[in-house]
Order: sequence, then structure tokens, then C-alpha cells
Amino acid sequence: MNFKNKVIVVTGGANGIGRSLCEHFARAKAKVVVMDIELDRAREVASTIGGLGVGGDVSVESDIKHAVLETERVLGPIDIFVSNVGVAFGDGPGWMAASASNESWELSWGVNVMAHVYAARELVPKMIRRGGGSLVNIASGASLLCQIGDAAYSATKSAALRFAESLAITHADDNIKVSVVCPLYVSTRMTEGGRGVSGGDNVMSADSAAEAIIQGILDNKFLILPHKELDTYTQRKYSDYDRWLKGMRGLRAEMVEQNPDCDYQR
Ligand SMILES: NC(=O)c1ccc[n+]([C@@H]2O[C@H](COP(=O)([O-])OP(=O)(O)OC[C@H]3O[C@@H](n4cnc5c(N)ncnc54)[C@H](O)[C@@H]3O)[C@@H](O)[C@H]2O)c1
Repeated sequence: MNFKNKVIVVTGGANGIGRSLCEHFARAKAKVVVMDIELDRAREVASTIGGLGVGGDVSVESDIKHAVLETERVLGPIDIFVSNVGVAFGDGPGWMAASASNESWELSWGVNVMAHVYAARELVPKMIRRGGGSLVNIASGASLLCQIGDAAYSATKSAALRFAESLAITHADDNIKVSVVCPLYVSTRMTEGGRGVSGGDNVMSADSAAEAIIQGILDNKFLILPHKELDTYTQRKYSDYDRWLKGMRGLRAEMVEQNPDCDYQR
């Protein structure tokens, strides 16, 4: 695939991985739409890359529709839609697995899953009519493993992976290409001191993550793993679940050691 003159929308394009993706696509001469809840920042990024800035909250279906219609009005039909926005709030007091508030669970569901559904609902029929298109959904390493200290993130990112699988199974014959991206840690606002999403040793820059994602799209990959080691971690998990759970308990204990306030047992 060649990105030249392709119309590409990136949600959450004002910061982090989304911003780097917008910059890479623009360098490849695509027509880029930076969609973000922070409209001023989206416009700022768009102006530096010669793209279009659009505001909106991805967890609101009418905002996704509006972003699609605005893109079509200004630039024409969408070739690639990257559902990149994701949110993580961490578990509630004491890091008990069900302690996050209902509001955190609902927001995690709305942003990490339903935003992908709304984009596909709006775009798949249009892409079928045009003979094809691409949907790129940013999930997480937590979709394959589990994010210690954030049950809502883990559950919703897993659901995002299942939804992408459903899209790929259902619409391959409609020439709709689906990719799902599962990064481990990337240096962005999300990982800045975030409880439960602190970086560890293998933190990647947003720029390197964007490069890996773009290469994955060019290679027509369904599952894009910017961190190659995730493949091994996932195989180990599914080959011996009990051993994996024991290892994860050990990791959690180490994290609690560093943040004693996070342990409900103390
Ligand atoms: N950073 C990591 O370590 C990491 C690891 C695995 C997966 N991911 C995933 O990668 C994606 C991008 O993460 P990031 O680290 O670049 O995030 P980020 O927090 O740096 O940027 C997210 C962007 O989304 C925008 N946004 C937030 N809520 C929105 C909403 N409701 N509607 C529209 N825009 C909204 C923000 O304004 C921001 O510009 C997410 O899906 C995240 O879950 C990140």
C-alpha cells in the first residue's frame, strides 16, 4: 500500500502515538485528519503537517459521524481510519480488581471499545460501496496479557481485540483490511507517572511505535506488535496459564513493594 493522497483519519492525533502517526502519514504525502477532544491542539498539529483538525469525543457516536462527514466534505472519502484513542484510569483504592468506579469502567468501555464500533458502523458500509478500505484499531499489550493495576483497561482492551477479529473475519471478502495494534509501553502522556502503566525497561518512543505501526499496515498485518517480545510473552501465557498467573502475581507484589499504598492487604 502507498499512502500518497490517501485520506487518513487518526483519532487522538493531537498527542502521543496518534500525533506521531499523523506526522508519519503526512510525510508519506497522505491527506491527514487529526481528530481529538482537544480541538485547539488538533488544529495546531494539523497546521504543522498541512492536515485538517477536527474536534470530537470518540465515545460519542454523533461525534465520530461528524468527523467522518467533515472529512468527506473537505477531503473526500476515507481510505484509512485509525481508532487510536485509549484511556486508562487504574483500579480504585487499594488496587482491588473491582474497585474502580462505575464511571471509570463506563468511560473505558466507551473509549476503548465503542469508539471502534462507532467508526466501523459508520465506515464499513461506505467502504463496501467503494470497494474497500482500512481500519486500524489501537488496542494494547493488555489485550493479550493483562495490565496489572487496571482491570477495566485490561478487560476493555481485550474486547477491542475481539472486536477487531470480528471485523477481520466478517469483512475480509469486502476488501476491508483490519489491523489491530498491541503495544507494550510507549513514552506518552499516558505513561507519565501513571499508576499501573509505568514504563519498566522496555519503553519505546511514540515515533518508533508509529514507525512499527506503519510498517505493519504496509505489510498487511492483522496483529501489529511494535514490541516483538510480546509475541513470546503471549505464547508463554497460553502454553501454561497457571505459571503465567504466578509470574504476574510476583510482578504485582514487586509493584506493591514500591507503592505500599496500593495494596488493600496492608
Ligand atoms: N502509551 C502506552 O504505553 C500505550 C501502551 C499500549 C497501548 N496504548 C494505546 O495507544 C493509544 C494511544 O495512546 P497514547 O499513549 O498515545 O495516549 P495519549 O494519552 O498520549 O494521547 C491520547 C490522545 O487522545 C485524546 N483523547 C482522549 N480522550 C479522547 C476522547 N474521548 N475523544 C477524542 N480524543 C480523546 C487526548 O486528547 C490525546 O490527544 C491508546 O489507545 C492507548 O491505550 C498506549
